[in-house]
Parts: sequence; C-alpha cells; structure tokens
Amino acid sequence: GAPVEVDITGMAVGEMKTVEWRGKPVWILKRSPEMVASLKKTDGVVADPKSERTPDALTPAYARNEHRSIKPEYLVAVGICSHLGCSPTSKFAEGAQPNLPDDWAGGFLCPCHGSTFDLAGRVFKNKPAPDNLEVPRHMYLSDNKLIIG
Ligand code: FES
Repeated sequence: GAPVEVDITGMAVGEMKTVEWRGKPVWILKRSPEMVASLKKTDGVVADPKSERTPDALTPAYARNEHRSIKPEYLVAVGICSHLGCSPTSKFAEGAQPNLPDDWAGGFLCPCHGSTFDLAGRVFKNKPAPDNLEVPRHMYLSDNKLIIG
C-alpha cells in the first residue's frame, strides 16, 4: 500500500485520530504531559517496557523506547490487538489496573480476551496478547505533517 500523509495541525491534547493505512486503523494520539509521565508508572507492569522483545516489524528502532515514538507527545500505533487481531477500544479504559493507582492515565482494552495496553501501546503483563501494539514505519515531514508507511 501507498504511504499515507497525515496532517496533525491543531490536534488537541488528548485527542486521537484514526487513519487507514494498508487496510489497518492507525491511531495518532496526542499525549498530554501527564500521559507521557504515566508511562513511568506503567514501566514496571508492562511485559516489554522497552519493546526489546517485540519483533522489528512491530517496533522500528526509533520507537524502541519507553514512549514508543519519535516525539514523546505523539503515539502512532496500529489499533489491532497483537493476540488475534481484534480492535482494542480507542477509548481509555476506566478503572485501576493491578499495581497501578486509581488515577492512572488510562490505556486501551481489547474486548475479545481482555488484553490491556498502556498509552504507549505496551501490553500489560500476564495478558494473552504476546506483543506490544505495532508501531508502523513513519516519519515527520514537518512539525505538523506525518507520513505513515
Ligand atoms: Fe485481543 Fe485476544 S484478540 S486479547
């Protein structure tokens, strides 16, 4: 499939956009400073915090970090569960996760078998999904223009 250009001008903090790339939904979430900070809290309870174990195809080198992205404030991830391919909710899951305070910044929940992911698409421990969500190959053409693929 052809690369997809995305204009992120004017995205509000906390806003999430979904674009289609190769027939898959790609999420672009503009994370607030609190959301970025929350990744420190989830570090200890996700299965693969630095995406070391996810295959290259799921995490390009520039996303092998805690925030799994080029710019800390933007998450770019494929919204398809790494277990059996359901779509996790694009809403932040309510309620506490084990080992996290009630006021954690949220994440994503797969309705099929209950895998949960943090705001960097990192899968929580002891969930059926084997890997973090895919970060598609992408780059910034300018501050407000992103190309996926
Ligand atoms: Fe998502 Fe099974 S498909 S947990």
